[in-house]
Amino acid sequence: MMKFDTPAGPNPTDKLKVLDKPYDRIDGPLKVSGQAPYAYEYQDAAPNAAYGVVVTSTIGKGRIDTIDTSDAERAPGVLMVMTHLNAPKQNDRGSPQLQGAEIKQYGQAVALVVANTFEQATAAAQMLHIGYSQEKGRFSLDLLKDGELSQRAGNVDMGDFAGAFAGAPAKVDVTYTTPNQSHAMMEPHASTAVWHGDKLTLYLAHQVMHWVTSGVAGTIGIPEANIRAVSAYVGGGFGSKLVIYADAILASLAARKLGRPVKIALTRGQIFNHTTHRAQTMQHLRLAAGRDGKLVAVGHATYTGDQPGGGGEHASGQTKLLYAGKNRLIQTYLAELDLPKAGAMRAPGEAVGLLALENAMDELAEQLDMDPVELRVVNDIQYDPEVGPDRPFSERKLVQCLRTGAERFGWSKRNPKPGQVRDGQWLVGMGVSAGIRGNPVTASGTRVTLRPDGTVLVESAMTDIGTGSYTINAQTAAEMLGVPMAAVEVRLGDSALPRASGSGGSWGANSSTSGTYAACWLLRRMLAEKAGFDPEQAQFADGAIAAGDKRVALKSLVGGSPVTAVDSIEFGDLTKKYAQASFGAHFAEVGVDMHTGEPRVRRLLSVCSIGRVLNPKTARSQCLGGMTMGVGSALMEDLIVDPRFGYFVNHDMAEYQVPVHADIPDLDVVFLEGEDNKSSPMKARGVGELGICGVGAAVTNAIYNACGVRVRDYPATMDKIL
Ligand code: MOS
Repeated sequence: MMKFDTPAGPNPTDKLKVLDKPYDRIDGPLKVSGQAPYAYEYQDAAPNAAYGVVVTSTIGKGRIDTIDTSDAERAPGVLMVMTHLNAPKQNDRGSPQLQGAEIKQYGQAVALVVANTFEQATAAAQMLHIGYSQEKGRFSLDLLKDGELSQRAGNVDMGDFAGAFAGAPAKVDVTYTTPNQSHAMMEPHASTAVWHGDKLTLYLAHQVMHWVTSGVAGTIGIPEANIRAVSAYVGGGFGSKLVIYADAILASLAARKLGRPVKIALTRGQIFNHTTHRAQTMQHLRLAAGRDGKLVAVGHATYTGDQPGGGGEHASGQTKLLYAGKNRLIQTYLAELDLPKAGAMRAPGEAVGLLALENAMDELAEQLDMDPVELRVVNDIQYDPEVGPDRPFSERKLVQCLRTGAERFGWSKRNPKPGQVRDGQWLVGMGVSAGIRGNPVTASGTRVTLRPDGTVLVESAMTDIGTGSYTINAQTAAEMLGVPMAAVEVRLGDSALPRASGSGGSWGANSSTSGTYAACWLLRRMLAEKAGFDPEQAQFADGAIAAGDKRVALKSLVGGSPVTAVDSIEFGDLTKKYAQASFGAHFAEVGVDMHTGEPRVRRLLSVCSIGRVLNPKTARSQCLGGMTMGVGSALMEDLIVDPRFGYFVNHDMAEYQVPVHADIPDLDVVFLEGEDNKSSPMKARGVGELGICGVGAAVTNAIYNACGVRVRDYPATMDKIL
């Protein structure tokens, strides 16, 4: 195990012969040619699989009184019907399914029908007769704001907020709301379960392999060693696939019962209501500044909701770190709701926290008659505002992001007075936002093998959810071992491989490549010793190891059998000494139709500071996706709740609006040069979620600048603008 607990010095990744280069994703051709198998597509590994269809609750709260399965059981091809009356007992820790008559949310699994074909299972699933008694549920935050609330941990009450706010010459006191949102990833949640004796292999769509093995084993009560989870390719996750749902548990149980593989995919409609979503927020912003624009009071209270035990959306978190200000009151309040469970969705916290904070900053800039870029610049702070200079940021280039972006975007042409710029029927405006996203890292392991033909095999339980994990781990090994990219093969997404970080929270790239770095160091030492070189002095380049004027081809060291190194990285407490976050500045130009109020994004620029860029193409693609999702959060995304049953009505891709190609202009992304040696030996930081953090606020600030309408209730649809 390699422990990372002091800032990284010079190391072999600094060569940047392979890292920092825009390699195409090595999994790309497999995906676009249909050769990359997804969880529902393992035909050979799951011979003669039966098809399961989940039946879900049509009420939001109450009980199942009666459930008549006789018609379904008699239907053609049906192999089994599982309900709470006959489901195996499961453990509460984990994700138990069908464990009683109580209904806690709409979309909860109430039955599983398994048949020889998907069509037979689907038809039989319609033949269940379920009688419910419905209770009144709590489905809206509006009803609860003055009701019973708990405070989330981590709230800040520093200095004299009330006094400073009252006495300041410029202030805003505004409330923003953000709706429930859905991940809406392309690949549905799906599982294929195959038992061999008492050993289960579960092919599923998930972001973290060891969370599956512990979660599923814990739920169904088998030893964790008896389950292998495989997510070799994942068609998007966005946080939704950090969680185990009915497909995984019920496929496992049904396959065991039937002695036959079972596959289950949730339908698109089930995904919206059975799986997690991003919770609605109400955010009360109170910002006050002196005439110089310096914040004297920073107040951000978020009201959010979730089922009992859930965390809702922690939208005030980023406000702790983003700006200076001695008097701070930063809180998140949590209400209990009976909606589907909330969960992490891309940049949980920041993504919607910044929608509110960065619009409020725009409102404050206007009050101060100050340029919004300058307001952010004067409130920059190079250390954690709560702790003081003893906890500096590992690397914080927010000001450079803002300045670089302003220059490149042509910010100086912006007219600060709204409604002044016209292009035909369009009123045109510009907006800016700061971006921040935390930089978590977590333990991660890799196995690296030098094979007799001189090629390198990199294996890890790390996942690639469409982000580029295969590619950057190949680049890391190629750089560390001095071999070309074409000589590296990568296998991921299998819990039988060394335990790894998985993908989530923007920790995947930095953590998993650091694990590969650790394993490559071990392999370098083993190979150097074989060659009779001092491991510290040996250079790895061009498929050879060299020291002084001696040079030995790697291939010649392997002989007939491969050389394998397994190691992992663990991260110490450098995050205690250094605040760590990725930063960005987002600029938007938006046109608003004078007659209809329709907003259209015309230009977007994100300038990002993420330490070292491991691969500028995959990193840029993450930003493009994040920016697109940021536009969606600003203008479109909104799960509509039916207050009678507590469900999300627009539960498909036609009615849950996300941007399509025609909604998105050419996007411009710039990465600042940088290195963060306190973050990891790779000197990189997370980027997967930074792209969404602040983009939506830049868009709505641009709408205000275009037409003078400040929408404080997201999304900013045309009915609210007109
Ligand atoms: Mo992320 S929302 O932690 O996949």
